[in-house]
Amino acid sequence: LREEHERLREEVAEGRPQAVARQRSLGKRTARERLELLLDEGSFLELDMLRRHRAQGLGMERQRPHTDGVIAGSGTIDGRRVFVYAQDFTVFGGSLGEAHALKIQKVMDLALSTGSPFIGLNDSGGARIQEGVMSLNGYGGIFQRNVAASGVIPQINVVLGPCAGGAAYSAALADFTFMVRDTAQLYLTGPDVVEAVTGERVTHAQLGGVQVHGTRSGLAAFVHDDEESCLADVRYLVSMLPSNNMSRPPALPARDAVHDVRPRLAEIVPVERNKPYDMRQVLAELVDDGDYLEVHAAWAPNVICAFARIDGEVIGVVGNQPLVLAGVLDVAASQKAARFVRLCDAFGIPLLTLVDVPGFLPGTDQEHAGAIRHGAKLLYAYCEATVPRIQVIVRKAYGGAYIVMDSRSIGTDLSLAWPTNEIAVMGAESAVNVIYRRELAAASDPDMLRADLVARYTGELLHSTYAAERGLVDDVIDPVETRSVVARGLAMLRDKRKHATPRKHGNVPL
Ligand code: COA
Repeated sequence: LREEHERLREEVAEGRPQAVARQRSLGKRTARERLELLLDEGSFLELDMLRRHRAQGLGMERQRPHTDGVIAGSGTIDGRRVFVYAQDFTVFGGSLGEAHALKIQKVMDLALSTGSPFIGLNDSGGARIQEGVMSLNGYGGIFQRNVAASGVIPQINVVLGPCAGGAAYSAALADFTFMVRDTAQLYLTGPDVVEAVTGERVTHAQLGGVQVHGTRSGLAAFVHDDEESCLADVRYLVSMLPSNNMSRPPALPARDAVHDVRPRLAEIVPVERNKPYDMRQVLAELVDDGDYLEVHAAWAPNVICAFARIDGEVIGVVGNQPLVLAGVLDVAASQKAARFVRLCDAFGIPLLTLVDVPGFLPGTDQEHAGAIRHGAKLLYAYCEATVPRIQVIVRKAYGGAYIVMDSRSIGTDLSLAWPTNEIAVMGAESAVNVIYRRELAAASDPDMLRADLVARYTGELLHSTYAAERGLVDDVIDPVETRSVVARGLAMLRDKRKHATPRKHGNVPL
């Protein structure tokens, strides 16, 4: 009997040779190979390997493969428990029927009850057509669990093939979605349906490939060229996240960052006020080993969101990026940063905000696209965040964008500014044109008067200690000491506790 069991296991594990060969010809690995890459060696405990569907009709009674097209269970990443499923495209195209869905739901329930991250590897034709409404019901049960687990355990969705129809919603409900170039496709309705309904001819990639979701829709937080680097990065991301909202992210040994002086920080920001520079260089100097994991690197690159460590402790960094659109906030940047801030807050990850923002992107395009509503998301996210919050004003911080980028008024715990800071309602030229309009119109030499007024405005309102004198900045620091002061600030705030007023939930502008 034992031998027979062993044979059955091997048969199931090997899969259908032809379908496996096709999978490989598309540059894809099998579900089991993917789990081997993702999990610590030998750590996988499979559940429900022998499970099969009980569907009737359309010849389904004669096709009842074990696994039902999904491998589910638990393993470890760097020794920490995670729950996983990997859809197997070689069985019914990885499509989701009743048994398939119940297997996924079982590991989701275990992930939530044990407080462990949940990772889904998707490669599927979507709802299993032959099982009708039971497939749709299966998705609903998964989405319900995605939402129940939101903010309690990290949820990671990896798209390694088609992910169509209802399946796409798990990608949107997860905290992070990964996609692999050339093979990942994520859309609600495929090219055939699009053509039938709208007459539009479009390829899979044009409709829902990495280019679309990595740069335009904002659905894919991470895009990779191949499955190996993708799954390696999933492991890296997991190493930055706590197992659940009641635990801290894994810390590495402290680095004596409090005594770390970084001369390079004095050289990055140009003397010319409007000259761009790369905020990632500032970020790299501030964090341990210059090492950070950028989220949504190719979507809304005018704002940077990244996980990193300072003194071994994980932080979330939000930074304006003067290299792109002068670092303004626009619709996409507001959405990207808002979601990141809320994620960090939900999982107890302290926030470091690096500010160099000239304002919001002006124009009808932005206003009509809801810049106010989307900007309010970021404002809401910061106002609501109870994790330790540190703001570093590197250069510009103007108008509403100053307020939004974790200013003192919306609750930052520690506000630091470099001597290059410029904090005001607006820049000197614009300000003078507004408040001295009449005087300038009447002046015999308006240019000379304007230059005088600009100098006066700058001297009185834009000098480097203006905000510090009013307690809105806690200190103006030497840039070279930023890593050290931020490390001290994080240590100071480590045990911060702040509780929001009880309510069912707020009404975040969506
Ligand atoms: N339900 C049941 N079986 C499905 C399926 C589904 N939703 N999607 C794919 N399959 C099966 C196919 O019948 C095929 O079975 P076979 O190996 O026994 O022939 C197998 O999975 C592989 O599918 P195939 O179409 O040959 O693969 P492909 O790589 O050429 O195309 C898709 C992949 C996903 C683009 C294509 O299968 C497709 O469009 N599927 C339907 C997507 C959809 O609309 N789903 C409903 C969403 S709610």
